[in-house]
Amino acid sequence: MRRIDRETVQKILDTADIVDVVSDFVSLKRRGANYIGLCPFHNERTPSFSVSKSKGICKCFSCGKGGSPVNFLMELEQMSYHDALRYLAKKYHIEIKEHEMTDAEREAVTERESMLAVSEFALQHFEHNLNNTDDGRDIGLSYFHERGINDAAIKKFRLGYSLEKRDDLASTAKAKGYNEKYLVDSGLCIQNEQGKIYDRFKGRVMYPILSVSGKVLGFGGRTLRKDKEVAKYVNSPESVIYRKSYELYGLYQAKQAIVKKDKCILVEGYMDVISMSQSGIENVVASSGTSLTEGQIRLIHRFTENVTVIYDSDPAGIKASLRGIDMLLAEGMNIKVVLLPEGDDPDSFAQNHSTSEIEDYLAAHEQDFIAFKTAILLKDAENDPHQRSNAIKDIVRSISVIPDEIVRSEYIKECSRRLRADEQMLTRSVAQKIAERIEKEAQQRQRQVAVQSLGDLGQTTTDFQSTQQEESEPIVVEQQSSAIEDSYDNRYSAFFKPFEREVLRYVLKYGMVEMCESCDESGNTAPLTVMDYVWSELNEDDIHFTNRNYSIAYNAAFEAISSYKDDLQREIAKLTEKRSQLMTNGIAEIQRTATNLTDINAKEQALTQQCDEAYFKDLNHFKTMYVVRELISSPDDVVRRVTTELISEKYVLSKVHTKYAKIETEQDKLNELVPRAIYEWKDAILENQMRDIRQKIKEAGNNAEELTALMSRQMELKQLKSEFAKFLGERIVAPRK
Ligand code: CTP
Ligand code: MN
Repeated sequence: MRRIDRETVQKILDTADIVDVVSDFVSLKRRGANYIGLCPFHNERTPSFSVSKSKGICKCFSCGKGGSPVNFLMELEQMSYHDALRYLAKKYHIEIKEHEMTDAEREAVTERESMLAVSEFALQHFEHNLNNTDDGRDIGLSYFHERGINDAAIKKFRLGYSLEKRDDLASTAKAKGYNEKYLVDSGLCIQNEQGKIYDRFKGRVMYPILSVSGKVLGFGGRTLRKDKEVAKYVNSPESVIYRKSYELYGLYQAKQAIVKKDKCILVEGYMDVISMSQSGIENVVASSGTSLTEGQIRLIHRFTENVTVIYDSDPAGIKASLRGIDMLLAEGMNIKVVLLPEGDDPDSFAQNHSTSEIEDYLAAHEQDFIAFKTAILLKDAENDPHQRSNAIKDIVRSISVIPDEIVRSEYIKECSRRLRADEQMLTRSVAQKIAERIEKEAQQRQRQVAVQSLGDLGQTTTDFQSTQQEESEPIVVEQQSSAIEDSYDNRYSAFFKPFEREVLRYVLKYGMVEMCESCDESGNTAPLTVMDYVWSELNEDDIHFTNRNYSIAYNAAFEAISSYKDDLQREIAKLTEKRSQLMTNGIAEIQRTATNLTDINAKEQALTQQCDEAYFKDLNHFKTMYVVRELISSPDDVVRRVTTELISEKYVLSKVHTKYAKIETEQDKLNELVPRAIYEWKDAILENQMRDIRQKIKEAGNNAEELTALMSRQMELKQLKSEFAKFLGERIVAPRK
C-alpha cells in the first residue's frame, strides 16, 4: 500500500463536502441549518439521519452511525481508511501524491505488492485447474459437488485445485515472469537445500484467504485422501502479507451482510462458512480452527457489536473455545451462542436445511453466552463442590471483563440465581477480580512508562500501547489481552462517565479556542486555550480519564495539535493575504465610486472594519475546528467514534430564535462552563472517595486508631466538598440544557 502524504490527506479532507458525499447515497432535504434524510445504516420510515454542512459530519440520531465523510464511507461501503480517501480524491479530482518513500519503505512496499501479485496469480491458476483441467474437474470439482457446493459458491469463494505435481505452480509462475523469491516468501513454494523450489500445495482443493478488501493473502489446502498419513490441511505460513491472527475466513464475502443484519456469525471451518453462505446465511466468518485473537475481534467489531457463535455439540470443543469468548466480552460485544443438534456441524446443518429452517433454528436456539457457559460448567459440577467452586470462579472472571457496569450487574443477578450462589458474594468476587486486574495493569503501565521515558519522551502511554498492539503479534492468551482492553476502565468508570464525557466534549469541540487569560507570577497575561486549561487542571490534581475510549480520544486531541503552531502561522498568512486582497479590491472600488474625501474616509473605515471582521471570523473558525477536523477523520476507530458522538448535537437552535437576537452561545461562555465541568468531575471524585471512607468506617468496627484516621480524612473531604459546592453554586446562574 502506498502512503498518501499528509498534505494531500488534508486537502482531501478539506475539500470533501459532507452534504455532497452523503448525497451520493442518500437523498437529503434541507432542514434549517442542516440536511436530513433516511438513514442508510438501518431501515426507517421517518428520517433521523442528519447532516451538518458546517461541522462536516453526519449522524443518525436513531442508530448513532455516521461521522466525517471518511467515516461515512468506511461504514457504509466497508472501505478501508485509505480506500475512502482515494474515493474522495477521485470524486474531487484531487491528484494523490504518494509521499517520498525511503528505500527501505519502497522495498517493503514492492515486496508486499509482489507477494500479493503472485498470490493473485496462484489463485487464478488454482481456479483454472479446478475448472479447466481433467484432474481438477474429476477430482477437485467433483469433490465440491459431492459435498453439495454449487458453482456459484465455488466462484464466490474462489475455490480452486492444486495439481498433484511437484512444481506445477512454480514452473507456470516462473514462465510468466514471477520472481522465485516472492513465490517462496508468500509460502506458495518451498525452497530445498539445493535451492530448487517446488509447490507447497499438491493435489488439494484450495480455499483462498482474502483480506477485508478482497486481496488474496494465503491459502488453506485440503487433501482429498482418506489415509491418515497426510495432513488434512496445509496452510500458507505467516508472511509479510498474511498475518493469521488478523484475518477471518469469509469476511470479504460476509461483510455487507454482517452490517445489514448487524450481526456476525462465527463458525470453525472453511466448509462451514461456504455451506452456510450458500444456504442464504451470508453473515458468517470462521476463525479457521484457531482460537480467536484480539486482532480478529477488532476486525469483527468494525462491522458489528453482535456475535453469534455456532457450536456443534462436541463438549470438548466447546470447553476449549469458552476462553476465547471472554475476549469478545471484554471488547464490549454482545455474545450469543447456538448449539446445533447432536451430530451436526454448521456445514452439514446448512446442507440439510432450507434458509428459513436455518434462520428459525438460530433464532429459537440463541442463548446468552454467560448463561450458556454457566449451564455447561455446572452440568459437570453438579455434585462436586470443588468443581462447583471452580466453575463459579470461571464465570466470575467472565463477568468481570465486561466493560459496562450495568450489564455486569445484570449478569451477576442472573448467575446468582442459576448458580444458587449469594449475589453479594458474586458482586464482591467480581469487584475483587476487577481490582486485581487494575492493580496488575497499573504495574504494567508503570513499566511501560519507565521503558518509554528512556526512549521517546514525547510519546504518551496510550500511544505506546496502541502502537504495540498494532505492530506486534496479538496476544492470544485471554488474560493478557483483556488486560490491555480494560486498562482504563475501572469499576467506577460508569459513575464517572458523564463527568468525563462533558470535559472531553469541551476539549474536542473547542480545544484551541482561547477561553480566558492566564496570568503568570510577574503579571504577564497570555491567552489560555480550553486544552491548556483542562490539561493543567487535570494535571494539578493528577486526574485521569477512567473510561478507556475517552482517554484515547483525549490523548489523540493532544497529538492532533502537535503541528498547530505551524498550521496556525500558515492559516494566518493565508487569511492576511485574503484580507489584503479584499482591501485592495475594496479601495479600488471606493476610488471609482467615491464623490469626495469625506466619503472616501468613511467608506475606507467601513471597509477596514468589514475586512477585520471577516478575518477574525475565519480565524476563529479555524481555531474552533482545528481539533475536530483532525479527529473526526482519524485512522483510529475509537477516536473517530468518540469525537463524532461528542460533537454532534441533537438539537439545533431554531430559526425563530436566531432571527431576533444574538443568542449567547456555548462558545461565549466557555470561561464559565469549562471550569464548571471540571469542578463537577472533581466533585464526583470526592463523592466517590467519601463513599469509600464511609464504607471503611463501617468496616473498621472498634479499631479506634483506624477510626480516628478515617474520620479526620472524612472531615477533610467534607471541607473540600463544601468549598466546591460554594464554587459550583456561585458561578452558575442557570443550569444548562
Ligand atoms: N484447520 C486447519 N488445519 C488443520 C485442521 C483444521 O487449518 N490441520 C482449520 C481449517 O480452517 C478447518 C477448520 O480448522 O476448516 C476446522 O477443521 P475441521 O473441522 O477438521 O475441518 P472442516 O473444515 O470441517 O473440513 P471438512 O468438513 O472438509 O472435513
Ligand atoms: Mn466439516
